[in-house]
Amino acid sequence: MNHEKTVCVIGLGYVGLPMAIRSKEVGYEVYGLDLDQSKLDLINQGKSPIEEAYIEERIAQFPVIATNDAAVIRKADIVLICVPTPVDESYYPDLTPVIKAVETTVKNLKKGALVVLESTVNPGVSEEIIRPLFESAGHIVGQDVFIAHCPERVNPGDKTWNVSNLPRVVGSFDQTGLDIALEYYRSISSGEIRPMKSIREAEAVKIVENSFRDINIAFVNELAKSFDKLGIDIKDVILGAATKPFAFMAHYPSCGVGGHCIAVDPYYLIERAKKSGFDHKFLKIAREINNSMPEYTVEKLQDALNLVKLPMNGTAIGVLGLAYKANVDDTRESPAFEVIKNLNKHLAIVETFDPHVLGKSTSQSLEAILEKSKAVIVTTNHKEFIDMLTPELLNKYGILVVIDGKNCLDKDLLESAGIIYRGIGR
Ligand SMILES: NC(=O)c1ccc[n+]([C@@H]2O[C@H](COP(=O)([O-])OP(=O)(O)OC[C@H]3O[C@@H](n4cnc5c(N)ncnc54)[C@H](O)[C@@H]3O)[C@@H](O)[C@H]2O)c1
Repeated sequence: MNHEKTVCVIGLGYVGLPMAIRSKEVGYEVYGLDLDQSKLDLINQGKSPIEEAYIEERIAQFPVIATNDAAVIRKADIVLICVPTPVDESYYPDLTPVIKAVETTVKNLKKGALVVLESTVNPGVSEEIIRPLFESAGHIVGQDVFIAHCPERVNPGDKTWNVSNLPRVVGSFDQTGLDIALEYYRSISSGEIRPMKSIREAEAVKIVENSFRDINIAFVNELAKSFDKLGIDIKDVILGAATKPFAFMAHYPSCGVGGHCIAVDPYYLIERAKKSGFDHKFLKIAREINNSMPEYTVEKLQDALNLVKLPMNGTAIGVLGLAYKANVDDTRESPAFEVIKNLNKHLAIVETFDPHVLGKSTSQSLEAILEKSKAVIVTTNHKEFIDMLTPELLNKYGILVVIDGKNCLDKDLLESAGIIYRGIGR
């Protein structure tokens, strides 16, 4: 395949880098713009700055020219904006990276280019923030610039779905913008590319998807707390309910919700709706429940330690996992850090180990952390932990208590070996 157009991707992270590589793979000329020099160096050496198979397997074969020189935007017929959309300490949306990336694009725009925001935003950002930034610089939308929104759905670590086959939704301000965007996305993905009636609808799709997940997780987290008191194993119940072939979708409780999406995106809708006079009670409660799980997990530990007459104060606790989900190295919004904060509050001695995040771990091997600890909390269900945390190994190092924050270990097996096991709702 050979496309005559040039693509510039702004923000070469979990979202932008796969998009840049895929665009190169299907024949576009591709430039990548980022502010992080160490990331740029690795990409230009054909190495992935993150642990992600899709990127690692392709980056050397489909090289992207990565730079911090915004002048490359001037060459681009298609500009993809893939920068972070975080919240601040009060959970208030921070659109600064999006605004900065758009301002840079406005200054370097090639006339007639398509600019697509892929970052997750609340409904209204394209209309209320992005469009005015172009217009106040004198660009006529639908003539000098075409603006679209195509929220990214990439799921790091997913072996089935990636940028080459994910279905997408696209919205634009005008038919020409929509047509150009549809043509581009259909050239990179074999999945359905669905045009939306408006850019606002496209923005809303992504927030709905991630809020749906947050709410469902909050529901099972609440059930976990309730079933714990009722003496019912929630994992078994969910597996039972999941035998219903329709109208039930299994979600699982855990020590908390992390990552740059689920734990963040609902706040964008909550705050924007508030400005229009709507109070999202359901979303707020979901966030509250999910944010309460790290503290709940530490309470489970405290209860279990009481049984072996150990105080939290001064007892060495091993936290197993810093990444927010299994088998990745992404620690953003990871509940492990809230668990650690809570343990510190109780004056426990905290050790940490994550085989995917050794740079932030205090111990460099599973054996090393077990040797130092009296109890462990599994905060990430990495394959290494599931495979290696056998009763024999735990007993060898004198681990008295296991708090399984991901319900990923064999409860019966550990209990039959005399280890105190507590899961989340089991
Ligand atoms: N990570 C995911 O799984 C995922 C999935 C779907 C959607 N999203 C959304 O996609 C967006 C990006 O997320 P991500 O995970 O790729 O973030 P990331 O932090 O991995 O990557 C963002 C990159 O943008 C760069 N950057 C920031 N400001 C810039 C600027 N002004 N100019 C150039 N580069 C800049 C950063 O240096 C970083 O390398 C967010 O809105 C997120 O919610 C993420």
